[in-house]
Amino acid sequence: MLDIKDRIINKKATIAVVGLGYVGLPLAVEFAKQGFKVLGVEIDDRKVASLNRGNSYILDVEREDLREVINSARLVPTTDYSKLKKADAIIICVPTPLRKTGEPDLSFVLSAVSEIKNYFNRGKAVILESTTYPGTTEEIILPLLEKKGFKAGKDFYLAFSPERVDPGNVRFKTRDIPKIIGGVTKKCAQIAGLLYKQIVEKVIFVSSPRVAEMVKLLENSFRSVNIALANETALICNRLGIDVWEVISAASTKPFGFMPFYPGPGIGGHCIPTDPMYLVWKARLSGYEPRLIKTAQEINSYMPHYVIDKVISALNLRKKTVKGAKVLVVGITYKPDVNDLRESPALEIMEELLNKGANLSYFDPYIPELKFGNRKFKSLKLNSVRVKDFDCVLIVTNHSRIDYSVFKNCKLIIDTRNAIPWKGKNLEKI
Ligand SMILES: NC(=O)c1ccc[n+]([C@@H]2O[C@H](COP(=O)([O-])OP(=O)(O)OC[C@H]3O[C@@H](n4cnc5c(N)ncnc54)[C@H](O)[C@@H]3O)[C@@H](O)[C@H]2O)c1
Repeated sequence: MLDIKDRIINKKATIAVVGLGYVGLPLAVEFAKQGFKVLGVEIDDRKVASLNRGNSYILDVEREDLREVINSARLVPTTDYSKLKKADAIIICVPTPLRKTGEPDLSFVLSAVSEIKNYFNRGKAVILESTTYPGTTEEIILPLLEKKGFKAGKDFYLAFSPERVDPGNVRFKTRDIPKIIGGVTKKCAQIAGLLYKQIVEKVIFVSSPRVAEMVKLLENSFRSVNIALANETALICNRLGIDVWEVISAASTKPFGFMPFYPGPGIGGHCIPTDPMYLVWKARLSGYEPRLIKTAQEINSYMPHYVIDKVISALNLRKKTVKGAKVLVVGITYKPDVNDLRESPALEIMEELLNKGANLSYFDPYIPELKFGNRKFKSLKLNSVRVKDFDCVLIVTNHSRIDYSVFKNCKLIIDTRNAIPWKGKNLEKI
């Protein structure tokens, strides 16, 4: 019988991906496209049924690619954990959200590992990809897997390798993004590295899982802090009567020492609002109270309120109250060209506008319907006659598919994304 190393090299290894969401599904399809047999273990039976019908619910996974690997049975989606008995390598891609108290919620990871334990035997590799605080792999997962009397590096292999995918990014796909790997032992790192070399151009080894865990949190805290700086600059520029977009565009001409980040109506998705708080929590446990990362989160969380104030005062200038005003929100996903609504600032803005009595509609080519409490909304079909009826058009997300020319003669446009290319009395930017 071949050991795991030879099975990977000969593409005989069966790879299991646990959690087929934005991260897990593209990864599973990539391994299957490279000729591996892949098990996709997912607790949501609707997702499993959809995949088995060849329908992708993740935009980055093309229907044709999915159908090819499903029809050839190279990817087998299932809700049945017992199939893991046959897996050589198990990659965990389950959610790592925050609790209501703002603390890390590892319940999905723990529940996945407790299932994996039931079908675990010698020679297998387990890799955690879910974003988490430094120490999770060695302090939480390692003892659970070693409970069987197995020793990591000898009887099984355990590593952390953060997912760095950027949904909706057409330039950098799974293959192009270097993979960071931190193994519990050297052998663990080698096996994980060998596995990922089958699907990515470059793997980068770090000395431990906790370094790899920290790398991911630094990357996302870096984004959060820089977005906060762009947002704060926008708030200052607004008071000074300066166009922040012009400032950033000119600063970006510096060939070194400056990297443009842009202001917006707030941050969303599963990463930027969440991951820095994992770091804050862990730092506090070690006796350090983070300041910069926390302040950045506060500035970013303030932005939806700033946008609402902007809507209210712009309507007020036009002798309108927000109560009863017809407001059209354009683009409601958390970022362009994805169908992901998680933590989207648009939801907070829409809820507040509804609470204040606005007569609300929305348009988003990626979200045909939206349930809001007990109310249901349908995305409008846009045309220049129809949009003229609105007292305010609020641009929250600028999908590349939106034709902005239909807004040319609107009464009022509030553009939080610098999406509108013309100037006019009816236009206010943040
Ligand atoms: N979405 C991103 O852009 C992104 C990028 C990098 C890293 N990450 C990280 O990757 C992880 C996964 O994120 P995601 O966006 O793919 O989440 P997701 O919610 O899209 O997908 C997770 C999937 O796991 C399933 N699941 C939950 N518990 C399970 C269990 N016990 N067994 C099997 N399946 C289970 C869910 O039903 C869901 O389909 C998170 O830690 C996230 O922070 C996400």
